[in-house]
Amino acid sequence: MRLMVAGLSNRDGRLIFKTLGKLVEPGGTLQDWRQLERAVEQAQPDVVLLYLGQRPGQTCTLARRVLNHYPALQIVGLVEKETPGLVELSTEAGLVDLVILEHGQHELNAAFERLHEARLQQQEADGDVLALLGAKGGVGTTTVAVNLGAELAADRNKRVIVVDLHLYLGDVAAALDLAPDPSVLWFLGHGSTVDAKMWRNGPPMHRTGFQILGVEGDLGAAEPVTAEQVVFLVDSLRRHYDYVVMDCGSNLTEVSLAGCSAADQRLIVVTDELAALLGARRRVLALHHLDLDPPVAYGLLNRATEGLDMPAIEEASGLRMVSTIRNAWRDVHGAMERAQVLREAAPHSDARMDIADLARSISGTGVTSEARRKRAFFSLFR
Ligand SMILES: Nc1ncnc2c1ncn2[C@@H]1O[C@H](COP(=O)(O)OP(=O)(O)OP(=O)(O)O)[C@@H](O)[C@H]1O
Ligand SMILES: [Mg+2]
Repeated sequence: MRLMVAGLSNRDGRLIFKTLGKLVEPGGTLQDWRQLERAVEQAQPDVVLLYLGQRPGQTCTLARRVLNHYPALQIVGLVEKETPGLVELSTEAGLVDLVILEHGQHELNAAFERLHEARLQQQEADGDVLALLGAKGGVGTTTVAVNLGAELAADRNKRVIVVDLHLYLGDVAAALDLAPDPSVLWFLGHGSTVDAKMWRNGPPMHRTGFQILGVEGDLGAAEPVTAEQVVFLVDSLRRHYDYVVMDCGSNLTEVSLAGCSAADQRLIVVTDELAALLGARRRVLALHHLDLDPPVAYGLLNRATEGLDMPAIEEASGLRMVSTIRNAWRDVHGAMERAQVLREAAPHSDARMDIADLARSISGTGVTSEARRKRAFFSLFR
């Protein structure tokens, strides 16, 4: 990991690099801590060791701001002596660790060994990330997201998480009657201070075996979320889960587009209504601006009824449909009313079978010849 030392003289910086030896790769010393933001932008360190000095309050405020812009960055605080409230102050600012020199020189090495260990652990999995974007509101994006999560989790060896990126209106947690604690906003806001254990075990688990990151009710105090935070969230989740399914809602916002661009694949959920088909076309155009490898998305036709003119639907939406979920209003609605997934509430319903088929084509298991055509596009996941 590349380390920058900030707030100390070049001489002290050299001493620190010498003490830490092979644990870090030297990334320069910045004497004036007030220039931290610009220095991070230029030197792109993985970790900053920040001397909190005489003004720990001001230094921590700056650290918080820098971390908001660079959520992948980790900042370790350095002080000579512990003063009252210092630990709380640095934790609140988002510092990953605090080295107190009066406790002994070995504290410095110990902190960087912990960091090194945590970074190794975080590099474990390399999951597949699927973004679901509604062609318009109400097409069934959330229904597909939670049921797909449940079907993918039927394989007990796979870790699956459904993430509600429909930030201010999302209802994944409500649909499953799970308390969204910790919520997706909590993870977005805490970024690099979240340890591997929290990424894995923090998000609540549904009884059918998948986890969720939901949206809480009171968003009055929520800070605005940046695209960088979303990308960091997605990249962190893929290290801990085999499948990450994101409900991006139907609005084109900085957050939903960041989710789409960080995903390995995108599915636009449509129905055969004209407004949905036109909405799909607009979303395809928006995705074209994200510099993604073509095709920018595939289509999922929900609430499908018999006798649909598929070529006309593909033409109107500008999407190739790789999945068709049949209309099963009674079953879907019944499951929803009981806050259940179809796998529990209506395992034999048409919609459940179609979503299970989609899950199989994603995971590549039990592939029939009919499903093989669909699977071809998911090989792009790898
Ligand atoms: N395959 C299906 N068959 C019948 N009804 C369905 C199907 N899929 C979803 N629905 C119904 O469509 C309605 C909207 O579903 P859902 O809330 O999942 O949509 P959404 O796109 O997430 O909506 P929003 O834009 O509000 O987030 C629900 O009443 C749900 O029961
Ligand atoms: Mg929804």
